[in-house]
Amino acid sequence: PTVSVTLHVNGEEYTLAGLDNRTTLLDALREHLKQTGSKKGCGLGMCGACTVLADGRRINSCLALAALYDQKEITTIEGLSQDSETGLHPLQQAFVDHDGFQCGYCTPGQIMSALGVLQEGHTGSADEIREFMSGNLCRCGAYSNIVAAISQVAQ
Ligand code: FES
Repeated sequence: PTVSVTLHVNGEEYTLAGLDNRTTLLDALREHLKQTGSKKGCGLGMCGACTVLADGRRINSCLALAALYDQKEITTIEGLSQDSETGLHPLQQAFVDHDGFQCGYCTPGQIMSALGVLQEGHTGSADEIREFMSGNLCRCGAYSNIVAAISQVAQ
């Protein structure tokens, strides 16, 4: 069966008509809206590469059915507010400053999850940041630099 779904992505409204009702939010973003910043790592809810904010809350978009996010506000890495000079969000700049990536594949998910951690107030210590970022895997092992980047923005 197909459905019609209206998504509000980074402040823009998109209506996807005739969408297979099994389409995930991640596939709707990447395949239908061509917003490819959110990555598919595992497709199983285990790596966090697909993390986006839905009505301000972190979710694994690979596990979310797009139809259930009709009329919801979705924020992806493409939607982060940008500094007029550098074009970067403070979290993105902090990841650059601290080498918070190597291959970069997990980085959009790491940064969207970090935004959630900041908004949730889970930045009291490096250990707390580590715990609340534990759903985001980095196969290059840049974890200590990622924690340092988030700590910088939290200060
Ligand atoms: Fe969604 Fe891995 S792709 S958690």
